[in-house]
Amino acid sequence: MLNIIFSRTFCVPAKTTILIKNVMYQLPLQLESLPPTPFYFYDLDLLNSTLDEVNRLIEGKPFWVHYAVKANSNLVILKNIVSKGFGADLVSGEEIEVALEAGFSPSRMMFAGVGKTDREINLGLVHDIACFNVESIPELQVIDELAQKAGKVARVAIRVNPDIDAHTHSYITTATADNKFGISIEMLPQVVEMAQSLPGIQLMGLHFHLGSQITLMEPYRMLCERINSLLDFFDGRNVHFKIIDVGGGLGVDYANPDANPIPSLEQFFDIFSTHLHLREGQQLHFELGRALVAQCGSLIARVVYVKENRNKKFVILDAGMTQLVRPALYQAHHLIQNLSAAHDSETDVYDVVGPICESSDVFGHNEQLPITHRGDIFAIRSAGAYGEVMASRYNMRALPQSVFYRS
Ligand code: LLP
Repeated sequence: MLNIIFSRTFCVPAKTTILIKNVMYQLPLQLESLPPTPFYFYDLDLLNSTLDEVNRLIEGKPFWVHYAVKANSNLVILKNIVSKGFGADLVSGEEIEVALEAGFSPSRMMFAGVGKTDREINLGLVHDIACFNVESIPELQVIDELAQKAGKVARVAIRVNPDIDAHTHSYITTATADNKFGISIEMLPQVVEMAQSLPGIQLMGLHFHLGSQITLMEPYRMLCERINSLLDFFDGRNVHFKIIDVGGGLGVDYANPDANPIPSLEQFFDIFSTHLHLREGQQLHFELGRALVAQCGSLIARVVYVKENRNKKFVILDAGMTQLVRPALYQAHHLIQNLSAAHDSETDVYDVVGPICESSDVFGHNEQLPITHRGDIFAIRSAGAYGEVMASRYNMRALPQSVFYRS
C-alpha cells in the first residue's frame, strides 16, 4: 500500500494503491489511474533521502543549510524541508510569506535579491528575519533608514561579487565582474566600513553565490581561496564576521537521474571543509536549491499527436514550455521517457515538442524513443527545480496540479 497526496484542485481519496508499472523508469505511477495531464509528480521519499543525506554530511560541523525557496515553493515540498530542520533563502516578499506559511522560523530566513522594495524590507523587519543579504550601497542605506524608522536593527551580510566564472550557462552565471549581482571586491572595505557606521545595521557577514547548475568543484575551491584572503585582510583590520554564506549552485545529473538521484553533496561539502579556513565561532551557510529538489520531480504529460513531416517525426505533448521552460530558456535537456512503452519495443527518432505557439517549445531534438502512439504517457525528468515555479499561463493555459508520492 502506497500513499499519494494530491494538491491544488484535484481530489481523490488520500490513500490510493499505486503499482510500479515499469520499474525501469523508477517512477511509482500507475498509468491506468492518472490524474489529468499534464501534472508535476514529486517523489517525497527521494526528497527526504536527499535532505537526510545533507543532514548526515553537515552533522557536527558549523554548517547551516538554507533551502533556496526559488527552486520550488510548493507548500508540500516546503513543509518537508522545514520538518528536516533547514532554513530558507528567500528573494521576494511573497517568498517570505510562503516560507512563514510553511513553518520556517524567521530566525532561519535569509533575504537576498538585487531589488528589494521598501515593502519587502519592511516585511523582513517586522518578522525580524535572520539576515538581509545586501547587494548595493543604496540598498544598505535604505535598509538602515527603514530599520531606524521601525526602531530595529537589521542584521545584514554583504554580497560580494568574487569575479569567478562558474563555467555554467551564461544566463545562470552570477559571479563574474559584469553580472548585476553583489558588490565588487575592491569596493568591499568601503562598504564594510559604511555598514559598521550605520545605526540601523548590524553587520553579520559576507555572502557569495557563483551561479547555478555548477558541476565542477574547481570554482568552489577558488571561492574558498578568495574568502580566505578576504578573511585575512579583514582580520588585519580587526573586522570579524559571524557568517560566511557561500550560496548554492550545486548541479545535478540531468542525463542520468536514476543513476544519480542524489547529487555529489559529499564532494561539495568536502571542498569547503578542506579549503575554507573558518575562524573560531564562524558559521558557514549554504543556499542549496536545485540540488535538493530537482531529481524528486518529473513533469508527466500525454501524447496528443504523433505527426510526420517531410524530414521529421514529432511527438506532440500536452505539456510544453509553459510547464517547464528550462529547455526553451537555457537550452537545457531533461531526460525524456515514454512510460507507456514496453521495455523491448522498437524505437524511432522523434522531436518531442509542446503545444505552444513558439518554435523554442521543444523538449528534445532527435530523441531515440520507443515507437510512440497518441495517448502514451511521457515523463520529463528532473523537473523538481525551476519547473513548477517558472510555469506560466502563456496561451492562457491553466497551471497544472501537483501530485506527491510517499511510501
Ligand atoms: N542563492 C542565490 C543568491 C541564488 O541566486 C540562487 C539561484 C541560489 C542560491 C540557488 O541556486 P541553486 O542551488 O538552485 O543552483 N532558473 C534557473 C536557475 C536560476 C538560479 C537563480 N539563483 C534554471 O532553471 O537553471
